[in-house]
Formats: sequence, structure tokens, C-alpha cells
Amino acid sequence: MQILQSATALQAQTEAWRQQGLRIGLVPTMGALHEGHLQLVRAAAQENDVVVTSVFVNPTQFNNAEDFRLYPRLPEADAALLGPAGCTALFLPGVEQMYPAPTRLRFDFGPLEQVMEGAFRPGHFSGVATVVSKLFHLARPHRAYFGQKDLQQVTIVRQMVADLSFDLEVISFPTVREADGLAMSSRNRRLTPTDRTHAPRLYQALQLAAEQLRAGQSPAAARQAAIDYLGQEPAIKLEYLEISDAQTLQPAPEQPAPGQPLAICLAASLGDVRLIDNEVVS
Ligand code: PAJ
Repeated sequence: MQILQSATALQAQTEAWRQQGLRIGLVPTMGALHEGHLQLVRAAAQENDVVVTSVFVNPTQFNNAEDFRLYPRLPEADAALLGPAGCTALFLPGVEQMYPAPTRLRFDFGPLEQVMEGAFRPGHFSGVATVVSKLFHLARPHRAYFGQKDLQQVTIVRQMVADLSFDLEVISFPTVREADGLAMSSRNRRLTPTDRTHAPRLYQALQLAAEQLRAGQSPAAARQAAIDYLGQEPAIKLEYLEISDAQTLQPAPEQPAPGQPLAICLAASLGDVRLIDNEVVS
């Protein structure tokens, strides 16, 4: 596996691959890789001739300086995991490669980012869209892989691809979970052992709401049941739990249309670790 550290090296490599007619898969990440990331890489390796994985802790998407500072950075361990997963090139740029000068560019996705993560993390999706569009320009992938775990992110990336006419396919990959249901996340490694035992309750709350929706309960009732269940554990500080239309991410109507896919999305903190998760019911 190659390691590319400059934007021009990545551009030159992907341009050469394009000229050879090779299909390029891109997996953007912020590193501290876990099985969730690696499954995206494996899927990309199966569906493309070459795979670029980027590892870059993107400063413009952090609205909290402490979260940015504490974000785990493990480039050697990441590199060791990526080769066996089928990655062809690891793109590991420094901040000066991605942002040679501070950017003033701002994206506004309207209603899509006025809810959930967008509402609680002002500017977050503008930073995500900035870095992902830069990565698309540098790697020029045929397919780009994103996890459903960040449902609002993949929805916004799809919108950006349509708005900016990127010629690529966005693939959304199902959430990979620990055996006890906790969604894999780079932030999980910062949970204390006690908080780690409480964390699966987030997934259990999603399952509870999903069961209630499937049983014909209203979104409001299902939402309240999940909130009450989370409230039984004082270590969990719930930020939001919303039941929304899975495509528009706007609040679900009181009586959803038959078969209308709904997304149950939550964010909660355990100690100073903020986690998100979701479940789609169709
Ligand atoms: P990061 O949190 O490192 O996640 C990289 C990709 O892996 C994202 O598409 C995310 O949805 C996916 N992913 C994370 N955990 C997953 C899991 N348990 N199951 C399936 N997929 C999972 O998301 C980002 O980085 C950044 O915002 C980025 C898109 C790289 C832009 O900086």
C-alpha cells in the first residue's frame, strides 16, 4: 500500500489510474480506524480496481476545540490495518495540504442541516462538505463510501454531489456494531469502562422506538418511550432523539404514510464523549 501525503501526489496518482481505465473507490475517514471503517474499505475493494482511504482529522468540521484536540490520532495503527483490508493508497495529508490558506467557503444545505447534528453543531456540515468536496476533486473517485451511522452526513453528501454535479456514485453502507449493539465509533475508545457498560442502552432505545413504530404506535409515542428508557440511566445525557422522514430528515408526521421510511436518530454524551446513532424503519 502506498502512503501519499501531498495533494499533488494524490492527484497525480489518481490521474494515472484514470488514464489506465481503473475504477477508483474513495473512503474518507478521520482515522482511529475500527471495523466499521474497514468494512467500507473492503466493500470499496470489491467494487473498484483501486481504493484510496483518506485519514484526516478535519479542523473545519469541529465546532468544539476540545473535541478536535482530543480526537484520537493513530496513523501508524491505521496504516497497518488498511493494507490487509484492500486499500491501495492511504492519503494522509497535513492541514497545510488540505487548507493551504484558511478557507472562508461556507455551505448551506437549508432544512437538511437545520435539524439534529446541524442544529447542535453549527457549521459542522459546512466543514464536512468543504473537506469532502476537496477530497472528491483530488481523488476523482468513481464511487465514494459513507456509513449509514452518520445518516445526516451521507444525506448531505448526496445533496452536495447533486448540487455540484460531481460525477460519482455515493454508496451508503450499513452501520457496523459491537456484539452488544453499540455502534462502532472512533470515540468509543474514550469511554470509561463504566460508561462503556451503559453505552449499549443507546442502541436499545433505538430498538425500542423501532418496535413501537412497527407495532403501529405514533412517532410521538415511540419517541417518548425511547426518551423515558434512556432517562433511567443518569450517566447518559441525551442531547436529542428525533423520529424523522428518512429522506428529508424533517420531523415525521403524526400519521406517517404506509411504508414511509422513518429514521430514529439520537445524540447523547457519556462523560465527555458524545455519541450518535440511528435506526431506519421502513
Ligand atoms: P469518520 O467518523 O472517521 O467516519 C468515516 C466514515 O466511516 C463515515 O462515512 C462514517 O459514517 C463511517 N463509519 C463510522 N463508523 C461506522 C460504523 N460503525 N459503521 C459503518 N460506517 C461507519 O465521518 C467522518 O469521519 C468525517 O466526517 C468525514 C466524512 C471523513 C469528513 O471529514
